Amino acid sequence: MTDLDTLLSVTDFEQRWMAKADRAIGQYVAGGAGTDRVVAANTAAFDDVWLQPRGLHDHPVNLDTTVTLFGQRQAFPVMLAPTSPQRLVHPDAELATARAAASRGVVSIVSTDSHYPYPDIVAAAPGRTWFQLFAYRSRRDVEATLEFAESCGAAAIVVTVDASFAARRLSTQRAGYRLPAGVDYGTLRALGILRGDPPSSGRHDKLPVTWDDLRWIRGRTELPLLVKGVLRPVDARRCVDLGADGTIVSNHGGRQLDGVVPTVFALEAVVDSVPAEHPVLLDGGVRCGISAAKAVALGARAVCIGRPYLWGLGLAGQHGVERVLDLLRDEFADAMLQLGISTVGELDRSFVAEPPRRYAAIR
Ligand code: FNR
Repeated sequence: MTDLDTLLSVTDFEQRWMAKADRAIGQYVAGGAGTDRVVAANTAAFDDVWLQPRGLHDHPVNLDTTVTLFGQRQAFPVMLAPTSPQRLVHPDAELATARAAASRGVVSIVSTDSHYPYPDIVAAAPGRTWFQLFAYRSRRDVEATLEFAESCGAAAIVVTVDASFAARRLSTQRAGYRLPAGVDYGTLRALGILRGDPPSSGRHDKLPVTWDDLRWIRGRTELPLLVKGVLRPVDARRCVDLGADGTIVSNHGGRQLDGVVPTVFALEAVVDSVPAEHPVLLDGGVRCGISAAKAVALGARAVCIGRPYLWGLGLAGQHGVERVLDLLRDEFADAMLQLGISTVGELDRSFVAEPPRRYAAIR
């Protein structure tokens, strides 16, 4: 039994889990594309954003960390990004993750490539999951997947557009990663898209998502639709024009393209390119509540975390994910108090000391 109370930061969770994980699986989670440089750069880029507190409050402090997204109240602006398949790190996989998110009042975004079938995950956390869509095989399959997600009770659809092609994950390859026996793709199986053994590489062929596909997907769901994997302002604008309800600035945790811009450097320009009411979220490299506060100050409505909750899940299932969320919530609340604000809505660019040096070299 791991004593999680001795882990005082998300990085402590990383170190503890990496020390006990199977080497190849550890590397699969940690790794990125090519040199893995972007994985580190996503986190390091937050160090180039400096906060400027006012210390003094306008009113007596009545701290409120909640945010509302698509009519849904969240306890604080940190959500769980889709990762697949979580059975790699813990037998309870997405069920534990969804339960932890629900118990802490945040949303878990569930991958099309989940180990457990999506209906089981929704049942574990009713109303607290969004469904992340990968386009498989044909429009007919995509349509069936959307209908399935809606009928199960997804609260929103997230279309990932930056992982259509297999990435060159060299460190993962070098570690000899293979999908272990017993790990499955329950949602794809429930949909009849996967039959027989899952591919040992863990990769399935996805359809590249075109602008036309995105428009077509928009027309096929009434749920809030978010596009994940947007980095260019012009693309964010185009997503808004074709009816997307939200944008997730993401580089897939550095797992797709070596040399891609760290997400926090891409954030402001994307925020500036869309209407103020259009929610922009960010993921990639968030390892503490301070980074979440920086992203929110630069215009993100919320951030998502990927690897950090997998470390918690790997160490202690649902309880581990809850502890990671508790740490991030406490750090975020502390940042608000130290900055001199009571509500998340007050956190704006005036709290950032100077504009981040966009595309600056990462130490
Ligand atoms: C991912 N990510 C991901 N994204 C997605 O849209 N669908 C998926 O199935 C997966 N699978 C996946 C597996 C693993 C092991 C990782 C680490 C990541 C990307 C994920 O949603 C998110 O963009 C990044 O993880 C965010 O970066 P951090 O928080 O891990 O630095």
